[in-house]
Amino acid sequence: MSQLIDGKRISQQIKDELREEVERLKEKGRNACLAVVQVGADPASTVYVRNKKKACEYIGIRSKSYELPEETTEQELVGLVENLNKDAQVNGVLVQLPLPDHIDEDKIIRTISPDKDVDGFHPVSVGRLWIGEKGFLSCTPAGIIQLLKRSGVEIEGRECVIVGRSNIVGKPMAALLLRENATVTVAHSRTKDLKKVTKRADILVVAIGKKRFITSEYIKDGAVVIDVGMHRDEDGHLCGDVDFADVEPHTSAITPVPGGVGPMTIAMLMNNCVETIRTQEERP
Ligand code: GUN
Repeated sequence: MSQLIDGKRISQQIKDELREEVERLKEKGRNACLAVVQVGADPASTVYVRNKKKACEYIGIRSKSYELPEETTEQELVGLVENLNKDAQVNGVLVQLPLPDHIDEDKIIRTISPDKDVDGFHPVSVGRLWIGEKGFLSCTPAGIIQLLKRSGVEIEGRECVIVGRSNIVGKPMAALLLRENATVTVAHSRTKDLKKVTKRADILVVAIGKKRFITSEYIKDGAVVIDVGMHRDEDGHLCGDVDFADVEPHTSAITPVPGGVGPMTIAMLMNNCVETIRTQEERP
């Protein structure tokens, strides 16, 4: 029988561990504060931002909210981020994506100080990840590593195939699996004979953004399957990039959607926020 990898339970466990750690750090006079910036009122972003602030409250760190109108200029947003970089009371800066079309996302990401880059999107954070230096890890891939480790899935020496090469998931996922001593292949939309490639995988991570695209024909018997997708189907049900009902019987372990990878992203964001005060000089 296949093991269901329970992201809800594992993310709760991580948040509870962080909550205890934050309490201990507070006794030493270390307090974390996350600044969360949202531009415009994209409904999905509003939900994500609300959940991030709720998670901060749960683990005991302060959050400061900046809800800016859609018409905010790039210059104004750069100005705000620069002020947050300088603000000694703020340890982490998060600008919710996507930004309106008239704002250059890359420019904003580069404006966030690498020391406060709790999303791990800054080129400095990405570079540190690839060369194995300490730094902030991209939250979703870091969450997937935790899902695997805490479910007892061995990574070292295994064949890992990632489908999707985004900067947020696919590429950092490759770096993290490599760091765990896996053999890593990144497949993408131009990959020839995708099924042949995915059938090599002991661990298959799917982040392609196509509803129920991966069927049992793509799976090696006994593989571990991690589904990063999140869609709503014709009946209004949430589903992933993997056709769960078809694939699950062929796996040794699999994440559900919802309740798999999704909840891990915020848990790992919280870990990055706590990281900002783990290494901080002790205040008198
Ligand atoms: N939009 C969707 N996911 C994310 C995320 O992890 N961080 C930020 N800043 N924006 C997002």
